[in-house]
Amino acid sequence: MKESEDRYPFLRACRRQPTEFTPIWLMRQAGRYMKEYRALRKKYSFMEMCKNPELAAQITLQPIDKLKLDAAIIFSDILIPLEPMGVEFEFEKGEGPVFHHPVRERKDVERLRIIEPEVEISFLMKAIQIVRKELEGKIPLIGFCGAPFTLASYLIEGGHSKNYILTKGLMYQDRPTWDALMEKISEVLIRTLNAQIRSGVQAVQVFDSWVGCLSPRDYEEYVLSYSKKMIEGVGKKVPLIHFATSSSTLLELMKRAGGDVIGLDWRVDIREAWARLGFDVAIQGNLDPVILFGPVDLIKKETKRILDRVEGRPGHIFNLGHGILPNTPVDHVAALVEAVHQYSSR
Ligand code: CP3
Repeated sequence: MKESEDRYPFLRACRRQPTEFTPIWLMRQAGRYMKEYRALRKKYSFMEMCKNPELAAQITLQPIDKLKLDAAIIFSDILIPLEPMGVEFEFEKGEGPVFHHPVRERKDVERLRIIEPEVEISFLMKAIQIVRKELEGKIPLIGFCGAPFTLASYLIEGGHSKNYILTKGLMYQDRPTWDALMEKISEVLIRTLNAQIRSGVQAVQVFDSWVGCLSPRDYEEYVLSYSKKMIEGVGKKVPLIHFATSSSTLLELMKRAGGDVIGLDWRVDIREAWARLGFDVAIQGNLDPVILFGPVDLIKKETKRILDRVEGRPGHIFNLGHGILPNTPVDHVAALVEAVHQYSSR
């Protein structure tokens, strides 16, 4: 680690070094719960905001100006690298992303392009450079991408899915096509993360949001080697956070795939999960995002409960168990950040 970065509590916690307080950031911290975001969103589509570096930088900084967060995450989306791979999609109102030509057979996989992120998603790299200048000496910037399984599921299902019937169908019934798809996605993700690191991000998070639909056996058989290859492809240049939801049965396997920090959702007890993982890895989590709708007393109580369970052990980054939800009251978020800093002050 560069000496100048040694003082950031977030980066220190990623490396399990002691900090004066527990650092906190929130998944989806730039988004619809903020009126500043909604105001911009009236004028631009989500994809327009992602593709305009000045706007993306501005949105990244919106929560930073308002809340005492210990890290920023670049405003973008896990689906961004898919478009230059040759997959068209759009965000349809209330439905999330919709892909018009899903990947279903070998020829669909063969058509996918391996991208040059610095050229084909240069807007993301530019946004990172702008934000780094703004944040210099204040807080570190996190880059991110989706994990191979989660992106494969979007490509195959053509959007969000409940039961992953098509994804698992391909996985079980056409192993060579599954392997070819996971191979290609992993290569694109290695390039995407390395380009973000070259552009200036000081840590990265891998979102395997939907991998919790798999049994441990299937994760090990069909997914682990690709997540591992991707994480190894990034190397140890910056700390890497490996996050999934509904992952309580997969935690040990996720650790095997890699990551300096394992991100936990709210369905697990934080102390038991850390003990299971072993204390040679850092953890991030894990307040239920719905708690933020509750009265401030409840938010403080639940925050304290999590911090008490961790007992001030170095290597805990406070976060929600999944992204912050639209309509979350901003003053409740401020109360959470303050409570984490106050209760964990050492
Ligand atoms: O954390 C951050 O603040 C950085 C920005 C960020 C976004 N998406 C912005 C966004 C990050 C890290 C993501 C990751 C992402 N995107 C994930 C993994 C995290 C998770 O929640 O599990 C996934 C699965 C996606 C795919 C995606 N993007 C979906 C399913 C949707 C639509 C669903 C929804 O919440 O409306 C998006 C759109 C999206 N990505 C929005 C934002 C702020 C909302 C866009 C809007 O303004 O309408």
